[in-house]
Amino acid sequence: MFFIPLFLSNLKTKKIGKQIEYIRTTGSTNKTIYHMLQNKEIEIEGVLISDQQTKGKGRRGNTWFSSPGKSLTFSLILKSSDKSLTEKLPLISGIAIIQAIKKMINIDCQLKWPNDIVYNYKKLGGILIEKRGDNFIIGIGLNVNDSDFDESIQKQACSIYSIINRSVQREPLLAFILNDFEKLLNNDMEEIIKKWESVCSHMNTFVKFHYSKNILEGDFVGLSKNGEAKIKINKKEHLFNSGVINI
Ligand code: BTN
Repeated sequence: MFFIPLFLSNLKTKKIGKQIEYIRTTGSTNKTIYHMLQNKEIEIEGVLISDQQTKGKGRRGNTWFSSPGKSLTFSLILKSSDKSLTEKLPLISGIAIIQAIKKMINIDCQLKWPNDIVYNYKKLGGILIEKRGDNFIIGIGLNVNDSDFDESIQKQACSIYSIINRSVQREPLLAFILNDFEKLLNNDMEEIIKKWESVCSHMNTFVKFHYSKNILEGDFVGLSKNGEAKIKINKKEHLFNSGVINI
């Protein structure tokens, strides 16, 4: 059970997350929040949190597995009037999560391009941003108190519990994420890129890059001003706006 008063007592935002809706079980919070918006059941900048997703969606058509009542699975809806949001949102969502975890339990997690949350190269969380009409739906899944993982992800996944050997409260953690997310929205792209690169797990590292059925190899040297991955292959810098990095 997600305890809303505890969440609200830690929430310091002006707008983001002021409307919070909780559903015990749903298919996917990304899908449900959009239906709620269409039915005028949620406002822009509202957040939907669920304790159990039966059809959690990951990036690239993957399934997102989460443990009922133990993970954080939530979606936030924003209006897409500001054009720079397309580039900013994936980056600031990741940075906000890293900063919130640091504030909550003082551990340094990192980001793997484009926006996986990792600890010791194992995946702790992910972000799925979908554009629906004039709206952005930002879906975040974070393994918090999970102790069992689906067999298919056991080797690559971790949770806060598996890192520090104790449970943490999800309510303040979610509030801290939203507090930082709102502050970061006002940063310009240059500041955001600097922050993102400072918490990247593979800056200036040799990487294997899966890009439209090809595997390229080169050095990840940072982000372009639009948030694309800059990879140096044979001394020449190439920009990519999609793909998967293997370290
Ligand atoms: C990824 O593949 O890394 C992205 C995972 C995103 C999962 C979250 S959980 C809350 C929201 N609802 C979904 O169905 N997916 C996102």
